Amino acid sequence: MLHKIIMTLLSLIILSMLFHFPVTSVTVNGQWEVLQTNIGIVAMHMQLLHNDCVVIFDRTDFGLSNLTLPNGVCRHDPFENVLKTDCSAHSVEYDVASNTFRALFVQTDVWCSSGSAVADGTLAQTGGFNDGERKVRFFSPCPTSDWRETIDNSLAVKRWYSTNHHLPDGRQIIIGGRAQFNYEFYPKLSETEYNKVYVLPFLVQTHDKGAENNLYPFVFLNVDGNLFIFSNNRAILFNYTNSKVVRTYPQIPGGDPRCYPSTGSAVLLPLRNLEASEIEAEVLVCGGARSGAFQLARKQNMLEALDTCARIKITDMNPNWEVETMPKGRVMNDMVMLPNGNVLLINGANLGTAGWENAVNPVFEPFLYKTNSMKGSRFELQRPSTIPRMYHSTAVLFRDGRVLVGGSNPHRGYEFYNVTYPTELSLEAFSPYYLDASFTALRPKILEPASQSNLTYGQKFNMRIEVNNGTFVPDLLSVTMLSPPFNTHSFSMNQRLLVLTIKEVKVTSGNSGYEFEVTAPGSKILAPPAFYMLFAVHQDIPSHGIWIRMH
Ligand SMILES: *[C@@H]1O[C@H](CO)[C@@H](O)[C@H](O)[C@H]1NC(C)=O
Ligand SMILES: *[C@@H]1O[C@H](CO)[C@@H](O)[C@H](O)[C@H]1NC(C)=O
Ligand SMILES: *[C@@H]1O[C@H](CO)[C@@H](O)[C@H](O)[C@H]1NC(C)=O
Ligand SMILES: *[C@@H]1O[C@H](CO)[C@@H](O)[C@H](O)[C@H]1NC(C)=O
Ligand SMILES: *[C@@H]1O[C@H](CO)[C@@H](O)[C@H](O)[C@H]1NC(C)=O
Repeated sequence: MLHKIIMTLLSLIILSMLFHFPVTSVTVNGQWEVLQTNIGIVAMHMQLLHNDCVVIFDRTDFGLSNLTLPNGVCRHDPFENVLKTDCSAHSVEYDVASNTFRALFVQTDVWCSSGSAVADGTLAQTGGFNDGERKVRFFSPCPTSDWRETIDNSLAVKRWYSTNHHLPDGRQIIIGGRAQFNYEFYPKLSETEYNKVYVLPFLVQTHDKGAENNLYPFVFLNVDGNLFIFSNNRAILFNYTNSKVVRTYPQIPGGDPRCYPSTGSAVLLPLRNLEASEIEAEVLVCGGARSGAFQLARKQNMLEALDTCARIKITDMNPNWEVETMPKGRVMNDMVMLPNGNVLLINGANLGTAGWENAVNPVFEPFLYKTNSMKGSRFELQRPSTIPRMYHSTAVLFRDGRVLVGGSNPHRGYEFYNVTYPTELSLEAFSPYYLDASFTALRPKILEPASQSNLTYGQKFNMRIEVNNGTFVPDLLSVTMLSPPFNTHSFSMNQRLLVLTIKEVKVTSGNSGYEFEVTAPGSKILAPPAFYMLFAVHQDIPSHGIWIRMH
């Protein structure tokens, strides 16, 4: 192992001397670009689908948005709180390739809802507020599609600020929400399940009377099939089939809250060595607010956000949190898993908490978290944006490696004038360091398989890439697979990156073609059936992804 590391380092040093190619990212720290100055709505929720379109939606109950529905269509809703007739749109579809968007029609209130892309690539989105609180809506990735919605209430109870996770059996679990200390599944398997909820006392135990702090819990499917559920300041490992707590994890040192409204965020770190008999899984939780910060923020006394991340090996029997310090305090930070397994912390504020008018001092600089670096040298400040993205802002990764950033509306309605942080209707893209032209020589390009290919569990498939033969180091090549998450309120539901096993890298054509064998994940627990983005990563620099479907 040590021998291999030394050889790798040596070959890197020699290569960089020979070719003057940069092998580290010390000099480049990303670029910002405004994609759209005004999409007419606040990007409160976002989901990338496998046609490279992003479904974006806000809420319906604040009045008119800045985008008119096409063809004279209006929404008539006797149950709506503000406008019974509303001819403005509250959802859009953004097309990455053409950088265009179109208005979508949504009937009931999707405010602070949740969702997941399911096995066939449809977005199945659940709950919301008022007339939308028990509804389920679907958006299929077709060029002309619109939202479809269940007529009847399809959820057993109202789900507002809940978290969804896509399960190995293809269903979603919907956990918690305001005043809901329970969970349910969608779709329902039988009539007996229609009104059934399963109690989850952990959400009561982690409910804070003054501030809740148990909303939008951080949920990840562990490699053993149980769910890791983090709420407030601690987590459990939970068997959702028999409602048993399998393991109780310690509190994060300090005990400060990390979930809404003390909103931090969390990711499941890359899953590797997928063929091993015991696969390790780690979770990283970053940011949040101090205990009591929410109550103070409501009185316009803004406390500094937490400047810590805590990392834990969730597969260990008795694990502890390893705490590290971020460059500065951050609340409402999104955590975007990049194709190379590093994490981008983006959006959010330095003072206050989530909630209307509850934060000031936006943090403009993304932080890069280098997952495999040593503790103490994992963070790198990135180039700042100029647009505050605080409450109700979002971020998702595109297949080309850019990060789409949208939203921010800390106000009850749309407010553009005479406020410090106006309602933000623009979309920006952050291009992380790896997209810099100075890395072109390292960047692989996927030639095979074709995008939209189907893969079965454990399938060994051939992959062909192109990469500059002068820089190519077979040992520094990896293949990753990433699920496109549902992002809202600083949490990306279903975000999951797997590092696949590759072997026998060989040259196929004289200069820059290479081929090798890749093994698809062996089980639906590792990778629930769905569309994933597949990337080749060479010396930390990812290719553009292709879409593959696991089933
Ligand atoms: C949104 O619409 C309002 C009302 O028509 C208008 O005053 C405002 O300038 C618009 N804002 C943007 C960013 O388009
Ligand atoms: C959860 O419990 C059920 C019922 O006891 C059991 O069949 C299943 O294997 C358990 N799940 C996991 C992931 O251990
Ligand atoms: C903003 O505030 C200024 C000063 O109080 C006032 O003159 C102006 O009308 C306000 N603008 C809007 C759009 O409310
Ligand atoms: C993948 O499988 C789906 C469902 O079986 C099928 O409709 C589709 O045509 C397949 N795609 C390819 C590229 O073979
Ligand atoms: C790269 O490809 C060129 C063109 O085929 C060839 O001449 C050269 O020897 C190759 N270099 C390496 C390091 O393999």
